[in-house]
Amino acid sequence: MQMTAQRQLCIGFSLSTTWMKGQGWREPDSDVEKMATIDFYIGLAKLAEKAKLDFLFRADYLYVSPQMIGKVASFGSPDPTLMFAAIARETKRIGLVTTVSTTFNPPYVVARQLQSLHWLSNGRTGWNIVTSIEGAENFGDSPMPSPQERYAKAREFTEVVRKLWMSFPHESLRVDRESGVFVDMKQVKAIDHSGEFFSVKGPLTVPGHQAGSIPLFQAGASDTGRNFASSQADAIFAAMPDLESGVKLRKDLRRRAQEQGRSGDDIRVLPGLYFFLGNTREEAYELYKATHAHMSFEYRNAALITVLGLDLSGFASEDRVTADMLPDPNLPVRSRTHAELLRHFIAKNEPTVEEVLCRPEVLGSAHWVSIGTVADVLADIIKHFEAGAIDGFIALPGGSEGSMLLFFEQLMPQLVELGLFRSEYTGTTLREHLGIHKN
Ligand SMILES: Cc1cc2nc3c(=O)[nH]c(=O)nc-3n(C[C@H](O)[C@H](O)[C@H](O)COP(=O)(O)O)c2cc1C
Repeated sequence: MQMTAQRQLCIGFSLSTTWMKGQGWREPDSDVEKMATIDFYIGLAKLAEKAKLDFLFRADYLYVSPQMIGKVASFGSPDPTLMFAAIARETKRIGLVTTVSTTFNPPYVVARQLQSLHWLSNGRTGWNIVTSIEGAENFGDSPMPSPQERYAKAREFTEVVRKLWMSFPHESLRVDRESGVFVDMKQVKAIDHSGEFFSVKGPLTVPGHQAGSIPLFQAGASDTGRNFASSQADAIFAAMPDLESGVKLRKDLRRRAQEQGRSGDDIRVLPGLYFFLGNTREEAYELYKATHAHMSFEYRNAALITVLGLDLSGFASEDRVTADMLPDPNLPVRSRTHAELLRHFIAKNEPTVEEVLCRPEVLGSAHWVSIGTVADVLADIIKHFEAGAIDGFIALPGGSEGSMLLFFEQLMPQLVELGLFRSEYTGTTLREHLGIHKN
């Protein structure tokens, strides 16, 4: 009988200090000051590599709002590609997935920076393609382009970057002392791209890496976002507040990938898993409560207005929120992905005001929240995997450093023991970790 290998999870670790969110940083022993040094992130990267994780991940924004600084533990948002360049030298195997926006950058510069990181890291780079929600004011006088325009630009941007990566292929490197041919110039070609948004001649200044091309991640799951992801991306950083929305999203993305001539397995659905781990359930729930304690009714309602355009001030906590209270779906919102998830939840459940204001879409970024002991969160991961909602996840530790350490010291080894995660790296590149075989 032929044995089929057990399907394994693909796991990334977010290099943002999510456990310092809320009031956690004010604790005398939080060690928050160390967040300002690269050594801190290198230490985390090494922990994740010791656990043989597929990749490190870092989100990125090109603007800063007063809510993001001031009372929040944050040393700003350093450029993640530069951070990964430093981390590349201190790690050997783990993938490095950086976030770069297609809305505000020139594609030639981005193609070059990513190929350079690929080279610095010996083939471990991944690109999380984002279209950005805000930040237009930092790049000129024009207002934020509509989501449709941002995705149209993202498509062309990605096409240009890919063409540039192929313009100076690794195979063109001959390094032949005898004939004196270093690069086979027949293989190095201009791309002569001329499109709606960009005109780029090429070729790129950096040759391709022998590891193959850079895996693409995408975040954003509106209809346009899903079409984009299913045609281009190897993985999607998904907002998945509940199991049901996850099963639907993954099924839909797999179907769309197949319609575009790809296999369903070509697109890996990886939600953010925002976990609160404690030695007891009570301890874990306390952590969760403490993290969100500073968020008053007014604060949460203000967040709800930005997510959905719905204002619940004047309502009592136990009042029901029903579908007929939802604003016109065509009104502009920051992220259609988050708005759609919450609209669906309200229409289906008619929740109370209190329940709406506790939703992950309101309190955070609509990530899958899991609270409890290591056994509880492990069971939750297995349930999502077996239900077909996920191919893996991006770990976002919540609450405390202790919660993060429980993940590495106890939860990860149990996933390995159950055969759901690797015990050793079998490859050296991100493509190999993700199981991407085609170029
Ligand atoms: C889970 C998730 C993570 C995201 N991370 C980022 C990010 O790090 N930086 C950024 O500029 N935009 C980020 N975005 C925004 C998306 O790139 C996109 O601009 C936005 O979701 C609008 O697309 P949509 O209409 O498909 O929702 C993220 C979106 C989601 C759903």
